[in-house]
Amino acid sequence: MDSFESLQNALRDAPGDPLSLAPRFLLRRASDDRPIGVVGYFNSYTALDTVDVWYAICLPEERGKGYGSEAVQLLADYVFSHRNVERVGATSDVENPASWKLLERLGFRREGTLRRALFHHGGWHDVAIYGLTREEWRTLRHPDRKSPREPAKS
Ligand SMILES: CC(C)(COP(=O)(O)OP(=O)(O)OC[C@H]1O[C@@H](n2cnc3c(N)ncnc32)[C@H](O)[C@@H]1OP(=O)(O)O)[C@@H](O)C(=O)NCCC(=O)NCCS
Repeated sequence: MDSFESLQNALRDAPGDPLSLAPRFLLRRASDDRPIGVVGYFNSYTALDTVDVWYAICLPEERGKGYGSEAVQLLADYVFSHRNVERVGATSDVENPASWKLLERLGFRREGTLRRALFHHGGWHDVAIYGLTREEWRTLRHPDRKSPREPAKS
């Protein structure tokens, strides 16, 4: 993974390009404002109308405390509120339970597996594809909302 500092720098320079993998938001711990991670989103398939999210709690001692789940929930809220998409997606190494459990906790469904799609830590890994539809998000997050606000055109 890139250093946290380089990710923070990339955040400052994050372009408007929807295909960019640059971080979009810095995560700060509410109790002391300490930066602990970054999240991003990007148009994952040029021919499709869907946005993928990614996330990292960069300080290992801050993992497993619920910050990642909270951040990705807010990020999904942001994307559904600001982008005209019906689906937010994410991918997770199948051997990274912290990542796919986070997604499942937030209601993302596993839609399939890309076999041997990611090379890291010296080997090829299978990658799970996850998705959360706008309808599922609305039911989970706003069960009382009947007709949602139209999102801004992306
Ligand atoms: C993946 C990551 C963002 C998860 O954030 P987090 O704040 O550590 O996770 P949370 O505390 O919100 O927990 C999310 C779920 O993962 C589980 N989990 C957390 N750490 C775990 C671990 N080391 N092993 C197995 N499960 C773990 C939690 O129990 C929870 O599942 P549950 O709801 O079934 O109890 C974080 O661990 C991280 O930054 N890892 C390195 C970078 C990375 O892998 N990014 C994902 C690629 S997009």
